[in-house]
Amino acid sequence: MVMWREMVLLVMFLLFVVQQICATHEREKTMDCPTSSCGKITNISRPFRLKRDPIHCGDSRYELDCENNVTVLYLFSGKYHVQAINYHNFTIRVVDPGVEEPSCSSLPRYFLSKSNFTDAYHGHAVAPYLTSQYQISDELSNYEKSLWKHIIYLNCSHPVSEKNKYVNAAPCVKWQSKGHIYAIGGDITAAELEVGCGVKLVSPTSWWGLDESSYTDMNRALLYGFEMSWLQFACDDQCQESPYDVCSFNTSSLNLQCALLCPDIFGIRLVRCGRGIWSQLLPYPAYFLENVFFILLGTIQGNLRFDAIDYFDMMVNGFKEKLGEGGYGSVFKGKLSSGSCVAIKMLSKTKGRGHDFISEVATIGRIHHQNVVQLIGFCVEGSKHALVYEFMSNGSLDKIIFSKDKSIEFGYDKIYNIAIGVARGIAYLHHGCEMQILHFDIKPHNILLDDKFIPKVSDFGLAKLYPIDNSIVTMTTVGGTIGYMAPELFYKNIGRISYKSDVYSFGMLLMEMASRRKNLNSHVEHSSQIYFPSWIYDYIREEKDIEMEEMGDFTEEEKKIVKKMIIVAFWCIQMNPDDRPSMNKVVEMLEGDIEKLEIPPNFSLYPYDATENSKQTIATEFTCSSSYSLEID
Ligand SMILES: *[C@@H]1O[C@H](CO)[C@@H](O)[C@H](O)[C@H]1NC(C)=O
Ligand SMILES: *[C@@H]1O[C@H](CO)[C@@H](O)[C@H](O)[C@H]1NC(C)=O
Ligand SMILES: *[C@@H]1O[C@H](CO)[C@@H](O)[C@H](O)[C@H]1NC(C)=O
Ligand SMILES: *[C@@H]1O[C@H](CO)[C@@H](O)[C@H](O)[C@H]1NC(C)=O
Ligand SMILES: *[C@@H]1O[C@H](CO)[C@@H](O)[C@H](O)[C@H]1NC(C)=O
Ligand SMILES: *[C@@H]1O[C@H](CO)[C@@H](O)[C@H](O)[C@H]1NC(C)=O
Ligand SMILES: *[C@@H]1O[C@H](CO)[C@@H](O)[C@H](O)[C@H]1NC(C)=O
Ligand SMILES: *[C@@H]1O[C@H](CO)[C@@H](O)[C@H](O)[C@H]1NC(C)=O
Repeated sequence: MVMWREMVLLVMFLLFVVQQICATHEREKTMDCPTSSCGKITNISRPFRLKRDPIHCGDSRYELDCENNVTVLYLFSGKYHVQAINYHNFTIRVVDPGVEEPSCSSLPRYFLSKSNFTDAYHGHAVAPYLTSQYQISDELSNYEKSLWKHIIYLNCSHPVSEKNKYVNAAPCVKWQSKGHIYAIGGDITAAELEVGCGVKLVSPTSWWGLDESSYTDMNRALLYGFEMSWLQFACDDQCQESPYDVCSFNTSSLNLQCALLCPDIFGIRLVRCGRGIWSQLLPYPAYFLENVFFILLGTIQGNLRFDAIDYFDMMVNGFKEKLGEGGYGSVFKGKLSSGSCVAIKMLSKTKGRGHDFISEVATIGRIHHQNVVQLIGFCVEGSKHALVYEFMSNGSLDKIIFSKDKSIEFGYDKIYNIAIGVARGIAYLHHGCEMQILHFDIKPHNILLDDKFIPKVSDFGLAKLYPIDNSIVTMTTVGGTIGYMAPELFYKNIGRISYKSDVYSFGMLLMEMASRRKNLNSHVEHSSQIYFPSWIYDYIREEKDIEMEEMGDFTEEEKKIVKKMIIVAFWCIQMNPDDRPSMNKVVEMLEGDIEKLEIPPNFSLYPYDATENSKQTIATEFTCSSSYSLEID
């Protein structure tokens, strides 16, 4: 009995001792760390530490140094002078040592923009400082406050006078070399960047009273310095949240708000917010600039650094190299700072509101297939929208199939493989995703080839999304390209618009790939030859050999491929949508034996029997209009 009681007491005593030791250790941590001071910064405390402070004080990522009675902060490759540390709002204000003396000729020593911090957006390795802070105020429920704006120095080959954003810095700034020096306060948009001007230097300021038309004011703003936030550290320290959540600074209560409130973008309540980012659906990192945001839907080659400056560079490089002009805007080649190339489709006019755009883009971004062009991200700048796609080095299919250049060695085996790839891509859009995606503009220009000539279906500009069980298409306006458009798209009485309309377009494409010429040849005078399929049909029917200009010396194997492609194409371009096979069936037919392929029933190219009159009507429509709009009841 006694033994037991002693044992229990001993255990309790030991537990007490252990608890005390732990408690003292905790207290020691803060008690043994008096605030340090250096020069005018007299209140250096956790998370900050001076180099000579005891090793357990502060956090090593927030180490400051004291040099000649000045507190300095090493930031990337720069060394900045600390002006103030604000513990109540979690910011530190530093100044570039190049501008410290109050003279308008002084220039920042370092090039520093938000892009130097963008790795912090990638979740895992969070930089100790961020350039923006999540805040909650009474007016705005939750927003990301940018802590600075940039002062951008530009060197232009010619004088820029009419743009008042460009402030002449020449009276103050003496650069050794020639050129016209301008400074811009605040961020500029791609459109405002003058041709012939290059960004020489970027430096931040947190002086909000900046008069952006006066260079001396900009210089004064630089002298004030810029703030950076260590809110993330405080959040990690004080909130028991999962590491991917964001806490905010409540400017009314001057407290951290650990609970997560997601912001609205275009009226969409975001599902979840990421660390240092807002994103519609994680894990997409989003890049927010002053009035531009870029959402990366997939990563290419690891880290992608992206910010205002890169964005401008990308746009400027892009404008130099135009890849093409599509129905919904122009496509440019862009190069990201990671070195990867992208294709940027600048949408000329966007239908609907940003809300619709984002939900559409979010769906397209989830589509992954070897034969479908991958959407990498998108940018929104005010009303301007751009889609960023993976870059396809071998251009579009029309350049290859219609090429008269004999040096392009392109046999029918390759054409055949491309046809199968395209069919698989469309089949995936129709049947492989949770939403059925109708393309409505299948044509050679919209089939892109990568460096290994793997075809990818591109341009969903016209694609609308339908729930899979809603078989009746509710869209009211469709566009398309003459020569590929299914007849039901311009004739109400043929049948309803459905995925079979894409099958028709694919059939026309397949026909062109087999014959390597355009179906619609406006130069042919003979009306019976305007439409390619009608005469090639006779060749098949009458079992004549296909004899085309280019087909003289083809092997038996190649003739077989061509015949197979043409028969499949005929199935696809049946007038009645119900007679056309599904794309899955098309893939099967293309891959299967030619002996098993049935010759399709006779077909009429035009609605009802092809009389000269109805031909005439359609022929006029073909030449008069390049796109159709129609209403479907
Ligand atoms: C260091 O700076 C502080 C504040 O500017 C000043 O009071 C102090 O005299 C300076 N010390 C030396 C050694 O210069
Ligand atoms: C110094 O910082 C501590 C917190 O780290 C704060 O409680 C104190 O009020 C600060 N003192 C001054 C003078 O800013
Ligand atoms: C910021 O990034 C730019 C471009 O990568 C680099 O030239 C510059 O030195 C960086 N700034 C600092 C202070 O390290
Ligand atoms: C933080 O506090 C300082 C000093 O009160 C103030 O100048 C600065 O504007 C504040 N910064 C933010 C982001 O609230
Ligand atoms: C500014 O541009 C001019 C020509 O555009 C060039 O000669 C000069 O070297 C550039 N200056 C600097 C500082 O890069
Ligand atoms: C911020 O703090 C104020 C004052 O404590 C409080 O009334 C308000 O609800 C807080 N804001 C949010 C969004 O929680
Ligand atoms: C296709 O792409 C490869 C790799 O980029 C390139 O070497 C080749 O010249 C391209 N071929 C054509 C026909 O453009
Ligand atoms: C196929 O249709 C065309 C046009 O309607 C017609 O002239 C031709 O006789 C038909 N051929 C057969 C075998 O039915």
